[in-house]
Amino acid sequence: MPSDMKCNIAQHHIPIKRITRQEKIKTNDMKKTLTTIAAAFMAFAGCITARADEGMWLPSLISQRITDMQEKGFRLSAEDIYSINQASLKDAVVLFGRGCTGELVSPEGLLLTNHHCGYSQIQQHSSVEHDYLRDGFWAMTREEELPNKGLTVSFLERMDDVTSIILKGYEPTMTEDQRVELVKNNSQALIEEVTKEGNGLRATVEALYYGNQYFLFLYREYSDVRLVGAPPSSIGKFGGETDNWMWPRHTGDFSMFRIYADKDNNPAPYSKDNVPYKPKKYFKVSTKGVKEGDFTFIYGFPGSTREYIHSEGVRYIEEISDPHKVHIRTLRLDIMNKYMGQSQAVRIQYSSKKAGVANAWKKWQGEMKGIRKMKTVATKQAYETAFKKWAKGTEYEGLVEKIDAIYRELEPYSYAADYYTETVRTVEIANAAMSVARIFSAETFDARRLEETLSAFYKDYHLPIDKECFIAVMNEYEKNMPAESKPEYYKAQMEKYGSIAAWAEDLFSNSIYADRAKAQTLTEADKEAVLADPAFIFFNEFLKWYSTEVLPHTRRLNQDLQLAYRDYMRGQMDFAEATDGKAGREAFYPDANLTLRVAYGKIQGYNPADGVYYEPSSTLTGIIEKDNPEIFDYNIPQNLRDIYAEKDFGRWADGNGEVPVCFIATNHTTGGNSGSPIIDADGNLIGINFDRVWEGTMSDIVFDPEICRNISLDVRYLLFVIDKVADADHLIEEMTLVD
Ligand code: ARG
Ligand code: GLU
Repeated sequence: MPSDMKCNIAQHHIPIKRITRQEKIKTNDMKKTLTTIAAAFMAFAGCITARADEGMWLPSLISQRITDMQEKGFRLSAEDIYSINQASLKDAVVLFGRGCTGELVSPEGLLLTNHHCGYSQIQQHSSVEHDYLRDGFWAMTREEELPNKGLTVSFLERMDDVTSIILKGYEPTMTEDQRVELVKNNSQALIEEVTKEGNGLRATVEALYYGNQYFLFLYREYSDVRLVGAPPSSIGKFGGETDNWMWPRHTGDFSMFRIYADKDNNPAPYSKDNVPYKPKKYFKVSTKGVKEGDFTFIYGFPGSTREYIHSEGVRYIEEISDPHKVHIRTLRLDIMNKYMGQSQAVRIQYSSKKAGVANAWKKWQGEMKGIRKMKTVATKQAYETAFKKWAKGTEYEGLVEKIDAIYRELEPYSYAADYYTETVRTVEIANAAMSVARIFSAETFDARRLEETLSAFYKDYHLPIDKECFIAVMNEYEKNMPAESKPEYYKAQMEKYGSIAAWAEDLFSNSIYADRAKAQTLTEADKEAVLADPAFIFFNEFLKWYSTEVLPHTRRLNQDLQLAYRDYMRGQMDFAEATDGKAGREAFYPDANLTLRVAYGKIQGYNPADGVYYEPSSTLTGIIEKDNPEIFDYNIPQNLRDIYAEKDFGRWADGNGEVPVCFIATNHTTGGNSGSPIIDADGNLIGINFDRVWEGTMSDIVFDPEICRNISLDVRYLLFVIDKVADADHLIEEMTLVD
């Protein structure tokens, strides 16, 4: 049962206890002794270097991996993946919006991405009369395609190693601030130079390997991108939060857009006269189907990973940050669920807020469990011991110790920052009070903005949830923040009220914002009341404390850390080369930073637990098994039920008479890979990436080929939905299908 699956996850919480600084250090020292012994028995080489299927590779350097890819089944060349001389697959991949990936599938600019990536556009065009989220949307003609203000897609024109240009003028005697300044100026000059043609060109310079290398990314950005189609949420978001990060999965997470250009195929702002963009390259869509063991490769824009960090950084995530954040969010989610279960109106108000809270909540659970299971902290400690030994007498001597010391100094501040973000900053009424106060503090008072801010706030606000959450999260704050880290303001309030509950009682009855009618009568003359409001004071006092007592320290120490990591990164590569030769060095790939990458692997199931094996594909039959008109997340459209009953699958059924829906593979992905094309050995599109399995979300820190799986929509389900559910087969006709 889906709800059981969720409970299953929640059971993995480790008990939260107050972690004092001494305790932390004690456990740590003990571990160190143990691992030193363990280290003697462990082969350290290979602990850090990439293993099978791990890695997010730079497309321009893919020739270094191509032999491995070909040995694993890939039938194309490096030039087919990335080339600046001829059309290559990179020309069919785009950065979609600010954090997703999309791919071209027709000669007329038709683009695929996830439903959750196009969600805000679909929502924006929805109204009570045309509820595209609920009912889906399909443009039956080009005229019906809907423009989207602010949405852009970017094609990568080229990427180049520009390290020598960016570091031109660098002297080893420079301070880090001077280096930052130099990098900034050199980058700006280069960006200006390469984008001077205009015409949609946009460039960024990105640091790789903590600034050991700099790459220029030159993009051409199109801003006339129109919504073409989206399935109803009951398909596109099927399984909702319950199935999120889960396998087996049955979500039809896709939406379709079309890129428009001017008559010369150049970027142009929206105009009726624009014409469909003609891509240099688009993906052919494979209907052949996938099976376990097939080679797959993903091309997209992964957002952020930290694969090379020190054991102390990992320990903080696993033992402190993730468990505490998960615990606090569990309390909030339980409260939201309680009220959402009691009222349909509240369910609608909080569904998107809850999704935001639940997404990272679930991911962190998998992350900490995965790190623990892999014993990453101990493995890294053993590696660090070996590194230290090797580093003696080199420029890297003392580096590991230095990083360790920075983490120790940083930890109480990171902890305070995590608590601040997960407690104080989540109080809705306080956020609203702050937004309003900002309007009153602006040079000119904007009455319309005030009105908009308040109506947006109240539209999705349910005070009992906020108040109960306040009590829950602030009680955690009280319990888990050491006294010396608490702001004076907080202590005074606790002195005054005696308990968080009494404080909440007062705040939630006396704040102006507790009373919508009262808040909506605020005028310019009420500035004093606005700045004296207890919800505002709560937010503001904590903000002041955070900005003076925490932020300056986290900033400084993180800068020190970045700097030390720049050396440590180089050190790790040199160490690998010393142990494993050239191959050791080449196993390193830069951490993800929302730049275009290639990852490759194969279609494969996994063992989530002892005695259990998950098959790599799911089918429409699974959707019907989950279908339940009583449960919002599992209530499928009636016509899908009818199609299933009549087995009216047309040409989309597989050899077993089933319609495939999703599959999993071993490609190394992260947030930002949503919407990325999953490509077969011949370069054809077989799926659209949209998630990972929660048991493998530690892959942002450490990749386990046994259990890390990305989840993709099978393109055959997309074709089936377009054809059978939406009756929009003109869109399929535009594509090139191959089998
Ligand atoms: N877990 C996926 C990601 O991180 C999907 C999130 C959207 N879907 C959802 N049910 N919240 O983006
Ligand atoms: N859903 C994620 C995204 O929006 C992809 C899942 C992941 O983190 O791998 O990018």
